[in-house]
Amino acid sequence: MKSKIIKEFTRRDFIKSTGVVLAGSMVSTSAFASVLGETKSGKRRVAMVGTGSRGNSLYGKFLMKEYGDLVEFVGLCDSNEGRVKYSKKNIGVNCPTFTDFDKMLDTVAMDLLIVTTVDATHHEFIIKGLAKNIDVLTEKPMTTDETKCQMIIDAEKKSKGKLIMAFNYRYGKVFTKLKEVIESKEIGELISVDLHWYLNTYHGADYFRRWHGLRKNSGTLLLHKSAHHFDLLNWFIGSDPVEVYANGALEKYGKNNSFRGTNCRPCVHKDKCSFYWDMTKDEESMKLYADNEKYDGYLRDNCLFREEIDIYDKMSVLIKYANNVEVTYSLTTYSPFEGYRFAFNGKDGRLETEEGIPWRGKENEDQSNIHSTEMNQSSHATETQKYHEIVSQRNFEDYKKTELPYLRSGHWGGDKLMFDEIFRGQNEYPTFHHAANVRDGSTAVLIGIAARKSIEEGRPIKIAELTDLVPQVNKWKNI
Ligand SMILES: NC(=O)c1ccc[n+]([C@@H]2O[C@H](COP(=O)([O-])OP(=O)(O)OC[C@H]3O[C@@H](n4cnc5c(N)ncnc54)[C@H](O)[C@@H]3O)[C@@H](O)[C@H]2O)c1
Repeated sequence: MKSKIIKEFTRRDFIKSTGVVLAGSMVSTSAFASVLGETKSGKRRVAMVGTGSRGNSLYGKFLMKEYGDLVEFVGLCDSNEGRVKYSKKNIGVNCPTFTDFDKMLDTVAMDLLIVTTVDATHHEFIIKGLAKNIDVLTEKPMTTDETKCQMIIDAEKKSKGKLIMAFNYRYGKVFTKLKEVIESKEIGELISVDLHWYLNTYHGADYFRRWHGLRKNSGTLLLHKSAHHFDLLNWFIGSDPVEVYANGALEKYGKNNSFRGTNCRPCVHKDKCSFYWDMTKDEESMKLYADNEKYDGYLRDNCLFREEIDIYDKMSVLIKYANNVEVTYSLTTYSPFEGYRFAFNGKDGRLETEEGIPWRGKENEDQSNIHSTEMNQSSHATETQKYHEIVSQRNFEDYKKTELPYLRSGHWGGDKLMFDEIFRGQNEYPTFHHAANVRDGSTAVLIGIAARKSIEEGRPIKIAELTDLVPQVNKWKNI
């Protein structure tokens, strides 16, 4: 039998080109639509805590540009006085600014609180917002340890407000396509998944320069970064994790180098350090961080070889799910290229995709720009990279390759599609459960917390020993 190549357009492209709207296809059945669709008069009042990079770019400028007809900012808060003032101008809003979160919460009437602070602080704002019965939209990871996770679960139970998890990767077009193939049962019942994620020497290294390098801030990359990947796995598999075993080490960054400096700008090792980053060439970083160092001493271009770094730079995790699916996962933080490899093994076949693998001949990208392109919302198809390739093969049959138009900007298009669902109640795939809630936020971080604990204690960790969340065979049984 001959292999097939399918060039795929999205349903939205289909609607655009034909004008045909599939009945109900754009209407979300998610919890968000009812939570956020009840605006009585005018615009939804939004306040944000954490006006850093993500707060300014996606939740600030992009939100105002694309959804300004629906929302208005009523308050901005950041512990850095200079950054919050700059952000007000940069986002282009006219609302009060605060360095004291409690004051903002007590004095400003709001419908939605957006939390985009350092990971280990999310719980504080989520819990306080929920205690006021306000809906809270939080960035990942929901939190960084099991005690805070339980506190958030309890706070949500008591609140009339809802917690919305900003799991944008789920909405990414390439990931939605994978979900569609899994749901179609083309490869039969899912048995195991391999996921290997490679961060390059720009994006991966950057985490060690920033606050993420200390586990008291990020909970390690098993929380900060892997929460995205663990959520994707939970969502694809449709079941809850029950047991986690992990290994991890810090072998490249931090104390491992023979030299170190204070931070890149005044560093005496500039000429010999292959990780030297000239922040002065990045205007936005200078305005956001360098101009405001005087308020909190935070150095955005801190040395990635500083002794105090205590997160892992290589991690591997085995996850067992309630429906018996098994996952093999790894995260690398100093790869020469940025990308991933996914393989789903089913009883009747296999589904796989990969991105960023340079020797495939089509993906020789400028590695230093990949992450900023991902954070940017503008289009990113290049002459050499036109497609995401998804290959499925049923046992005893030839493979079938599906080519999706290449899209990396805004996290594979996921940022915008997530906002469409949250703010407009629209989703092309209403049955795919894209909308993520407190349970999804919890199960993603509980894998990371269990993995960290497993590395520390050298034993498999049961998810049920961490909080009162009981793993379900079918994740969506009670929805
Ligand atoms: N979903 C995604 O794809 C994605 C992408 C980037 C960042 N993020 C998330 O967004 C969040 C922010 O990341 P970032 O890259 O913008 O970092 P950042 O360092 O640029 O911004 C964090 C901001 O939080 C402020 N802050 C820290 N502690 C605070 C406190 N106690 N009270 C008030 N403000 C406080 C800091 O001053 C800073 O302005 C993180 O949780 C991160 O995981 C998500």
